[in-house]
Amino acid sequence: MDVITAAPAALPAAPTPAGLVGNTPVLWVGEPFTRPGRGFWAKLEGANPGGIKDRTALHMVRAARERGELAPGAPIVESTSGTLGLGLALAGITFGHPVTVVSDPGMEPMMRDLLTAYGARVHLVTRPHPVGGWQQARRGAVAALLANLPGAWCPDQYNNPDNVAAYRGLAHELIAQLGRIDVLVASVGTGGHSAGVGSVLRKVFPGLRVVGVDTTGSTIFGQPAAPRLMRGLGSSIHPRNVAYGMFAEVHWVAAAEAVWAARRLARCHYATGGWSAGAVALTARWLAETLPAGTRIAAIFPDGPQRYAGTVFCDAYCREHDLLGHVPPAEPDRIAHSGARTVTAWTRCTAVTDPLGDAPGGGR
Ligand SMILES: Cc1ncc(COP(=O)(O)O)c(C=O)c1O
Repeated sequence: MDVITAAPAALPAAPTPAGLVGNTPVLWVGEPFTRPGRGFWAKLEGANPGGIKDRTALHMVRAARERGELAPGAPIVESTSGTLGLGLALAGITFGHPVTVVSDPGMEPMMRDLLTAYGARVHLVTRPHPVGGWQQARRGAVAALLANLPGAWCPDQYNNPDNVAAYRGLAHELIAQLGRIDVLVASVGTGGHSAGVGSVLRKVFPGLRVVGVDTTGSTIFGQPAAPRLMRGLGSSIHPRNVAYGMFAEVHWVAAAEAVWAARRLARCHYATGGWSAGAVALTARWLAETLPAGTRIAAIFPDGPQRYAGTVFCDAYCREHDLLGHVPPAEPDRIAHSGARTVTAWTRCTAVTDPLGDAPGGGR
């Protein structure tokens, strides 16, 4: 007798690659990454065609076109460590704009090749700015390119409010997937996705605790600038999109600790990402193990592992940078305020303030 089973429900077919953005899965990350009975939900943004920034690239470009700031066919120029570049390449193909991505020598060669394959031009700066580091050097290069390309438009992801608004959909997906959310754990680079997701979730769950994750050596939460290996999260400038007033606490994570977490996640749970997913997972694990049982934690993994084959998951690279064998402590160190001392390993602070001090409570 033939056994006929019902066909599994198919995902909707997408007529364009932009139609593949969003509706990413969530994965339960529990034992053995966490201790028995504890865990958190990871939102796998690596399931987007490029990564989490596909959402914001499409939204910023669409909004700029609607406002008439970006003319049909005009060039797009932006500074990015890569993830937004992938999104902009997608937006360029979708809306018909040439895209130039400005980055620095730390951009992974495979990311350069991938962006080129997607039709973007990659412009690498060669020297850091003496005060503002690589990021400031990249912004200077963007300004020079904009001055020479008539009609060119820069999304300015660090300060553009559309970068925040782009993440409303992600928040609504989480609500539909998880029902109730008590804690949101998000990495912070431009501040876009933590501010965007956090503000929507906060309206639905007024008691929501938002935990920001940064890298050591980043200036975002008031630490002094220092050389940073991790890309994606962290900054050497002060992005205006960071919603300081929203964060109950911030965790700074060192590169070796993020590598340990990303590798352990990969081995135990297959799904992982790179620097930011590792840092977020380390923080979410600690929260899951220390908050009351039943606390529902959503952690955002901004991209997948592929881009990190030559760094986080490369033994030679990790040995060269002394990133192997550093098992993080059971709990982070703690400082009373970000100016208390310079942190070089996993540390948390529950007094989150805007280092520029001009508008606590929501992105200046
Ligand atoms: C891989 C990765 N993780 C985290 C972030 C930080 O996200 P946001 O800029 O929304 O703060 C970025 C930003 O570029 C990223 O590319």
